[in-house]
Amino acid sequence: MCGIVGYKGNKNAQEILTNGLSCLEYRGYDSSGIAYFINNKIKIEKAIGQIKNLKNKINYKEKSNLGIGHTRWATHGKVNLDNCHPHQVGKITLVHNGIIENYGEIKKKLQQFGYEFYGETDTEVACALIDYNYKKTSNMLKAIKKSINTFIGSYAFLILCSDECDKLYATRNNSPLIVALNNEETFLASDVPAILNYTNKYYLLDNKDIVKIDEKINFYDENLKQVTKKIKKYEIENINISKGKYKHYMLKEINEIDDVVRKTVAPFIIDENTFQSKFNFLSKFEKIEIVACGSAYHAGLIGKYLIEKYSDVNIDINIASEYRYKKHKFNCKTLVIIISQSGETADSLAALRIAKENNAKTLGIVNVYESSIAREADDVIYTQAGPEVAVATTKAYVSQVAIFSLIAMYFKSKNESIKNDLKDLKNLPEKIRNILNKDFQKFAKLIYKQNDVFFIGRQIDYALCMEGSLKLKEISYIHSEAYAAGELKHGSISLIDNNTVVIAINTDKDISLKTISNIKEVKSRGAYVIYLTNDKNIKEKFYDKLILIDNISPLVSPMLAIIPLQLISYYVANLKKCNIDKPKNLAKSVTVE
Ligand code: AGP
Repeated sequence: MCGIVGYKGNKNAQEILTNGLSCLEYRGYDSSGIAYFINNKIKIEKAIGQIKNLKNKINYKEKSNLGIGHTRWATHGKVNLDNCHPHQVGKITLVHNGIIENYGEIKKKLQQFGYEFYGETDTEVACALIDYNYKKTSNMLKAIKKSINTFIGSYAFLILCSDECDKLYATRNNSPLIVALNNEETFLASDVPAILNYTNKYYLLDNKDIVKIDEKINFYDENLKQVTKKIKKYEIENINISKGKYKHYMLKEINEIDDVVRKTVAPFIIDENTFQSKFNFLSKFEKIEIVACGSAYHAGLIGKYLIEKYSDVNIDINIASEYRYKKHKFNCKTLVIIISQSGETADSLAALRIAKENNAKTLGIVNVYESSIAREADDVIYTQAGPEVAVATTKAYVSQVAIFSLIAMYFKSKNESIKNDLKDLKNLPEKIRNILNKDFQKFAKLIYKQNDVFFIGRQIDYALCMEGSLKLKEISYIHSEAYAAGELKHGSISLIDNNTVVIAINTDKDISLKTISNIKEVKSRGAYVIYLTNDKNIKEKFYDKLILIDNISPLVSPMLAIIPLQLISYYVANLKKCNIDKPKNLAKSVTVE
């Protein structure tokens, strides 16, 4: 998703802006640009591709202390300089993160007033409307207010006006934006990493707030009533967001998973009684709906299987982008759990709002502190994964599964002892470390030249297949499919040929034999089977390569089983020399619907 940064202070604006954009690179982008005041005029520089291309164009000797910057993840229009931000129309120059859904009709009206457009973006249209309203009102606050009352969609805008070379404006609606400050400087950004090198003090903006930055920071609500905001502080210990000894952030983050699990579960497993108290709030709900996207959805699916196994709670799972079309039957005994690493995913945020509008209680399972979902949910459980830079999630996914393991353990504890489960959970980090120390490059060599890979499993193993398949696809660009093992024979088995790689996951002894039958079905059609299991007593060799993991509580086992799949995907992508931390077309936080 797009990244935006703004600056007003006593240092070189160009430097602060381009460094801020570099900290947002992980969000995914295809072009970038900055606009800054120099000798009371706005200067704009843009570049396609990496930020270093932009830096090469900028004259850092020019003395500027106010400007805005943008990394673009294209939603409208091709990747070219005309569509790259900042956009300038008349007196107005701006950058935007989000989507203006009704930009087409606005564009038609403005064209009737003589506006011409050089690009294809919704942002250029938004810029023109603010310029139109500024020309009508000669007042920036009124122009912005009139414009945002017209927009339908999501936006975070940073805005400059050629008539006001000492001012910077901003406004947001459903797209993230923070205003940060230290003694002499003000920073604006779509996300924390862009400002953490300068300050940890910040303000949060509500939807449709307007900010005017001159000598002070002035906040206005959507009716232009001046409001005051409380300063917040990011209490985050020194964030180590370097790669350290690792070649990629993804490999570093996979190697942090043992610590992440330890940190995530620690507050809940002091002893069995404390454990109970932390989750008692769940017992009043008759129905639980889980809503998420991508890997967070896969974590939720594991949660569904685990909770269903140990309770008779009515539990449903939904892809967030589909959730808005459902007929919702909520009541005060319905809990809607929204899972999101970034806490800014537009589809998941929209689902949260639907749940709240329908009077359901909402719980966020979120990794980023004070993110939109964390703030807007009735309650939040933070996963302790720390900042995750690689676009493909690994440690945050496992920390989400850890929370669901704890929730399922709570339900189990109401009917039977969880002593052994807690013991396995306490020992899990060490078992994860043992797997992290194993070599999975030999498996990657079997896969990296393949065009198609199948993942098969049943129940929780099928949910693990989904995440394993997504990891392989998103970083190595090899097509793969996760299939319920019993379903393959109903059609897609026609795709199994000699040496088609099938990764089969079988960790549930209660359904193991059926999965083995399905493995034999693909094996008899020539598949090359990599078998991941916790069964140490395998009687026959129906597979080609074996990955053996420890046999531990089913409540805890998914967090172990996923590690080999994450590492195999990483090493496959590495063999293919892919851009592992920033895969093509992907963004770390998908803030558009
Ligand atoms: C992660 O590997 C995926 N790239 C992506 O599917 C992600 O899980 C999804 O976009 C949800 O993100 P969130 O957890 O920040 O809401």
